[in-house]
Amino acid sequence: MKRLFVLLVLILLTPFLVGSAAASICIDCHSEITPEIVRDFKSGAMGDDVDCSDCHGFAHSSADTVDKVKMPTHETCGACHAEQDSQYMDGKHSIAWTALFAMPTTKDQPKELMEGQKGCGGCHKMGAKDETGWDEYHYGVVGCDNCHTRHSFSVEEARRPEACMTCHQGFDHAQWEMYSTSKHGVIYLTEGDDWDWSAPLSEAKESYTSPTCQMCHISGGDHKVITSWGFLGVRVEEPDAEWAEDRASVLKSFGVLDADGNPTARFDLIGPAKLARLTMDEWNEPREKMITVCGDCHSEEFARISLEEGDQMLREADRVYAESVETVAALHRDGILPEPDYIDELQSYPYPDVLRFYDQSHTIEEDLWVMWMKYRMRCFQSAFHANADQEQWYGWGPLKETAVKIKSEDKRLRAEAELAEAVGAEGTKETTGTAGAAEGEADAANSPGFGAVVSFASILALFVWLRRGG
Ligand code: HEC
Ligand code: HEC
Ligand code: HEC
Ligand code: HEC
Ligand code: HEC
Ligand code: HEC
Ligand code: HEC
Ligand code: HEC
Repeated sequence: MKRLFVLLVLILLTPFLVGSAAASICIDCHSEITPEIVRDFKSGAMGDDVDCSDCHGFAHSSADTVDKVKMPTHETCGACHAEQDSQYMDGKHSIAWTALFAMPTTKDQPKELMEGQKGCGGCHKMGAKDETGWDEYHYGVVGCDNCHTRHSFSVEEARRPEACMTCHQGFDHAQWEMYSTSKHGVIYLTEGDDWDWSAPLSEAKESYTSPTCQMCHISGGDHKVITSWGFLGVRVEEPDAEWAEDRASVLKSFGVLDADGNPTARFDLIGPAKLARLTMDEWNEPREKMITVCGDCHSEEFARISLEEGDQMLREADRVYAESVETVAALHRDGILPEPDYIDELQSYPYPDVLRFYDQSHTIEEDLWVMWMKYRMRCFQSAFHANADQEQWYGWGPLKETAVKIKSEDKRLRAEAELAEAVGAEGTKETTGTAGAAEGEADAANSPGFGAVVSFASILALFVWLRRGG
């Protein structure tokens, strides 16, 4: 009876015994080959119960089979963490890779900046992908390890706001700079070391005296990150009629509406890629959730007013930006700017496409792109992240400054074009004059002098026009 019991126990334990035997294969050798990775992995919560092979497979198990190794995807993690995986898939992080490849000029950039993770791809690897298509670059496949860095996969690390900093910084999404120099961030930086980082976020308010990125955006541990406005700061349904009109210009500059205001092929991306909330209900849902988060520490009224002010700053920024969009579009419409050689790729010509980023045809379009992606962004993003300096001096101020620059440039280009036309007409007269003179003996002597007067007049006129235009 006792023997039978031991046998039964052994049979039941077989999978685990095989498991640990396999673990020793990987770890035995890798303790020599990559000792830091083994130590890191062993220090984490998965170090005891999970094996290297659970994520990397068994196809490689010797020095000769390294090329057979498997790199995990989010689904590998999802096999044991289904809840976090499905929340991640519902939110925006899982779309980062798709959004990157939906951009019109991604195909034209060095491959290293994309799959090689040296630029766009280095942050957008956060998105869900499968293993296929990774011939040259087979790294950067799991979104999850961007916050739970391999190989300790620590949950405490992911709770610290610095975990978001590598990507949410800089030019067009300076949330780290906004947060870390806001009142919320400064309290974190001065008091955060005393907070309980081992407690789940659902208990954060009992220990934190100020919010972190995670408390507001992964509240209660929900991995579905999504906000009302999102990055592009547009929503499809708009109850405010004046704003809707400016929004139309904004959407034309994104190539989402054509010049007549009809949806383009790119419009169809908005829904699936969650680039904007389609209805007010969809927009209100994350907003109300956010107000509940603020409500842990502030009055509801305080929170509501603060966020509504953010909405209003976006509206004001749209006003200024929309006017500049129309100015640049009119330059193309009137033939003052030449047709760009990528005209076939433009969804909304004569409107410029700011989603091409820096790949534009004229400096005035470069100004417009920066106006959108740097200054308009800061106007509303810093309002939501309670940062007055970023709001004023990195957002609204340079936004207005660029609008003035674009207006002056518009005047100058139009003056130049008018002058070129005038000179062209004079030039024609001049040629006719000379030809006429050659016909008549009497005028022949005057013709070179007449030509010189015309040229001098052109230079003088050019000078006056340029002064007036600039
Ligand atoms: C006999 C030694 C040995 C064993 C056993 C072994 N590996 Fe390796 N492994 C290597 C060597 C050598 C490399 C290549 C290291 C390098 O490029 O510096 C490697 C590389 C890797 C890589 C990185 C591959 C890449 O493309 O960057 C992973 C992941 C890996 N091993 C996982 C495992 C797993 C999982 C097991 C157990 C199933 C295992 N290894 C067993 C020797 C071994
Ligand atoms: C074979 C199942 C399995 C797979 C595959 C797996 N995990 Fe785990 N994971 C576990 C177990 C077991 C624990 C420990 C659970 C516990 O302590 O409650 C854990 C814990 C964690 C934790 C909590 C860590 C902490 O500090 O408390 C994180 C984060 C995590 N896993 C992330 C991942 C990620 C990311 C992947 C994919 C790259 C992954 N896991 C793949 C089984 C797995
Ligand atoms: C430093 C990291 C980083 C780099 C580099 C980067 N991005 Fe992003 N990108 C982000 C972050 C973070 C967001 C989300 C910002 C937000 O919502 O405020 C984002 C948002 C986007 C979005 C909007 C997605 C949406 O759903 O609204 C697009 C499109 C995009 N990036 C394309 C690109 C392209 C193309 C490049 C390279 C030219 C690039 N990104 C480079 C981090 C980066
Ligand atoms: C929970 C899943 C998981 C487990 C378990 C795991 N790894 Fe990894 N490993 C990853 C991820 C994710 C990457 C990054 C892959 C990428 O860039 O696409 C990685 C990459 C690697 C690399 C190549 C990248 C580098 O930094 O050199 C090596 C080597 C490696 N793992 C070794 C190991 C060893 C050895 C073990 C066991 C001690 C192990 N891994 C256990 C998920 C895991
Ligand atoms: C006090 C809560 C709070 C904290 C802390 C916070 N955010 Fe936000 N965040 C918001 C609100 C509110 C919005 C705007 C939501 C909306 O669209 O209605 C927002 C918007 C965003 C967006 C979308 C674009 C934008 O900026 O408007 C991103 C991305 C983001 N936050 C990332 C971060 C990161 C990263 C951190 C930490 C460095 C952080 N947030 C800290 C509340 C917070
Ligand atoms: C944007 C950052 C971020 C990404 C990406 C991310 N996580 Fe997390 N994860 C967190 C944070 C923050 C927590 C802490 C939640 C809490 O305290 O309730 C966490 C907690 C966890 C836990 C521990 C849950 C518990 O109850 O202890 C697991 C397991 C986990 N994540 C798995 C994953 C998996 C799997 C993925 C990819 C599908 C993933 N995470 C992607 C930030 C992230
Ligand atoms: C590896 C880079 C990376 C890290 C780390 C990262 N994010 Fe993101 N995040 C992105 C990218 C890229 C996007 C845009 C995704 C898309 O295309 O929609 C994004 C989008 C978001 C959004 C959605 C904004 C919207 O459009 O509604 C929020 C909120 C956000 N991140 C918060 C966080 C927080 C909080 C952390 C840290 C816990 C974090 N992120 C860590 C890259 C990152
Ligand atoms: C964990 C607590 C906590 C949460 C959650 C929280 N705050 Fe705060 N907030 C504070 C503290 C503490 C201060 C500094 C004291 C003060 O000014 O009331 C502050 C200050 C502010 C300020 C004033 C900043 C300044 O420079 O004077 C604004 C605006 C603000 N919070 C908005 C929000 C909004 C909006 C939310 C939700 C999206 C939110 N807070 C969520 C704790 C919190």
